[in-house]
Amino acid sequence: MTDAQAAILAIRPLAQGYAVLTLDAPVLAAEARPGQFVHVRIPTLEPSRLRRPFSIYSADPATGRLEILYKVVGLGTRHLAALPVGTSLAVLGPVGRPFPLDPAGTPFLVGGGYGVAPLWFLASRLPRKGVLFVGGRTAADILETDRFREAGWEVRVATQDGTLGERGLVTAPLDAALAARPQAELYACGPDGMLRAVGERAIAAGLRAWLSLDKHMVCGVGACLACVQKIRGEGGERLARVCVDGPVFEAREIVW
Ligand SMILES: Cc1cc2nc3c(=O)[nH]c(=O)nc-3n(C[C@H](O)[C@H](O)[C@H](O)COP(=O)(O)OP(=O)(O)OC[C@H]3O[C@@H](n4cnc5c(N)ncnc54)[C@H](O)[C@@H]3O)c2cc1C
Ligand code: FES
Repeated sequence: MTDAQAAILAIRPLAQGYAVLTLDAPVLAAEARPGQFVHVRIPTLEPSRLRRPFSIYSADPATGRLEILYKVVGLGTRHLAALPVGTSLAVLGPVGRPFPLDPAGTPFLVGGGYGVAPLWFLASRLPRKGVLFVGGRTAADILETDRFREAGWEVRVATQDGTLGERGLVTAPLDAALAARPQAELYACGPDGMLRAVGERAIAAGLRAWLSLDKHMVCGVGACLACVQKIRGEGGERLARVCVDGPVFEAREIVW
């Protein structure tokens, strides 16, 4: 893990409030694994303000470029969105336990909104292609699906208002696919409700599901215990730190 200065090389706005930042971060790009995140200091916030965690969306060791995909939700991300190309950010990372890259069966990736960020990095490093299930409230929450399609992934979309793909929750196309092709390994990133639903399906089907949790973080390096999650392991139940023991956990580990 390093704490390096990384210049913003490019900003690519997506649908409402979402954007992709390209950073010049050679050490991070070389070390990053899918599912890990970076903890970013936003220079126009007061020094006492916390860093903000963002999943690594892509990392290319050859160019030294690393991307994050973010959504403006509050003060920090509003400040991030106002920074021009050339700004230098203090970026700590890569942090956390990555997704494993040895799927037993077809990889089924499940996400929505910015949850698609670690899934794209994962898709680019998995040894085989599979299916992306992507859900959201409306069409604007469905991001970057062409990137997956162009890379040979099958994409199934569901929106709650029916503006893109089928109307309803992402679990509907997932259920249909699980029934048709039971030998799969699941990977998901998104809100807790979605993660829990994906995990329950995997457990019921006897499959593994790797879930990336999204918890409020303070230090991002395991020292403050702001991000704890109850998990079960060989020694019984315990509190794990999502920043360094996660953010990726297997569904059976999580005590909801
Ligand atoms: C491991 C990890 C990976 C993440 N990856 C991404 C990513 O790839 N792209 C992205 O856009 N965001 C990501 N996030 C969430 C991101 O860190 C928060 O959205 C950001 O910190 C909000 O900062 P803010 O100052 O704009 O909002 P704040 O003013 O701090 O909060 C605004 C609103 O967002 C809520 N909020 C803040 N942090 C979180 C959080 N972690 N989870 C859920 N709600 C939150 C607050 O409760 C509040 O309602 C990730 C979070 C974690 C823990
Ligand atoms: S954020 Fe401090 S321990 Fe995880």
